[in-house]
Amino acid sequence: MKFSIAQSTELCRLLSDPSRLRLLLLLEAQELSVAELTEITGLAQSRVSTHLARLKRAGLVQHRRSGTAAMYAAASGAGRGQELWTLLREQLDDAQIRLDQERAAEVVRARKRGLSWAESVAGRMELYYSPGRGWEATAHALIGLLDLGEVLDIACGDGVLVELIAERARSVVGVDLSAKLLAAARKRLRGAANVAFCQADMHALPFADGGFDQVFLMHALSYARDPKTAVAEAARQLRRGGRLVVAALNAHRHRAAMEAYDHVNLGVAPDTLGKWLKACGLRLVQCRVTSRERRPPYFEVITALAVREG
Ligand SMILES: C[S@@+](CC[C@H](N)C(=O)[O-])C[C@H]1O[C@@H](n2cnc3c(N)ncnc32)[C@H](O)[C@@H]1O
Repeated sequence: MKFSIAQSTELCRLLSDPSRLRLLLLLEAQELSVAELTEITGLAQSRVSTHLARLKRAGLVQHRRSGTAAMYAAASGAGRGQELWTLLREQLDDAQIRLDQERAAEVVRARKRGLSWAESVAGRMELYYSPGRGWEATAHALIGLLDLGEVLDIACGDGVLVELIAERARSVVGVDLSAKLLAAARKRLRGAANVAFCQADMHALPFADGGFDQVFLMHALSYARDPKTAVAEAARQLRRGGRLVVAALNAHRHRAAMEAYDHVNLGVAPDTLGKWLKACGLRLVQCRVTSRERRPPYFEVITALAVREG
């Protein structure tokens, strides 16, 4: 079968996505429903459906109805992409593939044993989607427990965190370098009387020392040309008893991803961040990797909590 340049590039594009490769490999080994593929891969259900539709259009996947569910499998015929896929498939070997196959085997076993959805994911439920049970809902529930006082959110972006915590704080000040993001934040928080925004650089904040009870530095250090100074500036804002919360990427080597998101450094290791916090006179409560992304290149997130003791 011959391809035009447009067909070749379309096919290469189709096979250049890690999620689509994972789905294809799974469907080669067994027939699975969208719900099962979602459960195995941890991808959002809507993404699984979109990928399957594209793979089906390229003749790489087929489906049949089984009761109310549609069951998907790798296409057996000689579709347009089959030869290229077969070539690539023979060379593929990755830890993620083996993990997916193990999970698929469990899901198929659970299907046979008649377990409920929750029973089938017992011990690793955080990896799986179920309707409404997301981190956002969990965050809203936990935030009800907080009483935050005066809060500073450094590099606040378009105000997602400010919106989440505003009702639990006496006041919140959001700081960001970008006028465009601040405009979006002001729009998001319009009508919130205890919220203010300010344009400033995290390396030189325009506030006197010790004005806040809680300071957040969330996903900001990747944008700091001098992260140690940014941490010291954040610490300077704390009054006695005040707490600094940092979420930051662990040190990594993925320069391409860094460039795609305009990061200006390759993350910071927990030990280094811990040293910087202590050097500011703070007591370190926690500073460690708390999560690891499930898709390549598996970025890790550090969360740190440090206190200015009285
Ligand atoms: C990934 S966003 C994080 C937004 C927010 N903290 C959150 O977690 O949703 C990074 C933010 O840092 C801001 N930023 C970049 N350089 C900055 C600087 N030197 N000072 C203050 N903000 C900065 C960007 O404008 C952007 O809003």
